[in-house]
Amino acid sequence: MREEYGRYHWYPGHMTKAVRMMQENIKLIDLVIELVDARIPYSSQNPDIDRLAAGKSRILLLNKADLASAEANAQWAAFFREKGIHVQEINAKTGEGIKAIDALVREACREKLERDKKRGIVNRPVRAMVAGIPNVGKSTFINAFAGKACTKTGNKPGVTKGKQWIRLNKSLELLDTPGILWPRFEDAKAGMYLALVGSMNDETLLLEELACDLLDCMQELYPGAVSERYGVLPAAEAQETLGLIAKARGCLGKGDTLDDRKAAAILLEDFRSGRLGRMTLERPRERE
Ligand code: G4P
Repeated sequence: MREEYGRYHWYPGHMTKAVRMMQENIKLIDLVIELVDARIPYSSQNPDIDRLAAGKSRILLLNKADLASAEANAQWAAFFREKGIHVQEINAKTGEGIKAIDALVREACREKLERDKKRGIVNRPVRAMVAGIPNVGKSTFINAFAGKACTKTGNKPGVTKGKQWIRLNKSLELLDTPGILWPRFEDAKAGMYLALVGSMNDETLLLEELACDLLDCMQELYPGAVSERYGVLPAAEAQETLGLIAKARGCLGKGDTLDDRKAAAILLEDFRSGRLGRMTLERPRERE
């Protein structure tokens, strides 16, 4: 099966096994901790999550908040909160924002805990799983959230063999394997954004085209960023700007000609690592 995002392609074939596992695992848990990329919260969200997580408590984490604009993070958090979603900005790499998650979990699971209490069930920990599209930071988050203090609880009776639960505290257990979700297939813009943040394999992408798409997005959203980083004034055509960046950075190919592909790789890497500044590519109002 091949899904297309306009010029960008997504090969979900290799994910089939992971997705099946996710569907199995979701039966074991009470709470889904869903990660999206704060730079593209809409495009990096699984389109079927409402159906997949039906009946489960949920929290949504805007991860890589350090790479997204602070103002847009606040806008997205307000947008989701207005929809009744429990949301938090985090940086899984440094652990920023992670302390606030315990309170969010309690809030999200309040009804379940009260229901348990009425039925005389006390001290049964909430079981949670982390889910999100590839490369959104699931493993990094699990490591940061679980920290060093955690103990693996090992196999439990009544739980599918081989499942590992990490006991975070007396009221929360986390499945150690994250659920891998697929992103939105339906629009070309989402595909481009996913390629830009690096959630697709670059080998299948045309780097120069992708870099030109990034230059077009930046020209619209962060017009000063190119000249600030590379000391060149953006031209009318993105391809030309890429040539200027190649020149400024001394990207030479065979026969000492300028190599736009090298410049594209530099630009994309600078964007993905935040060296071009904190940038959010989509805003809530576009998606309402
Ligand atoms: P996954 O399990 O969802 O597939 O994602 P994973 O944790 O492997 O993270 C994917 C990449 O995103 C990693 O970078 C990771 O360090 C980075 N990352 C995760 N969370 C954050 C965050 O909040 N902020 C930033 N800036 N980066 C984050 P990598 O390049 O693959 O590895 P490395 O160079 O960091 O070792």
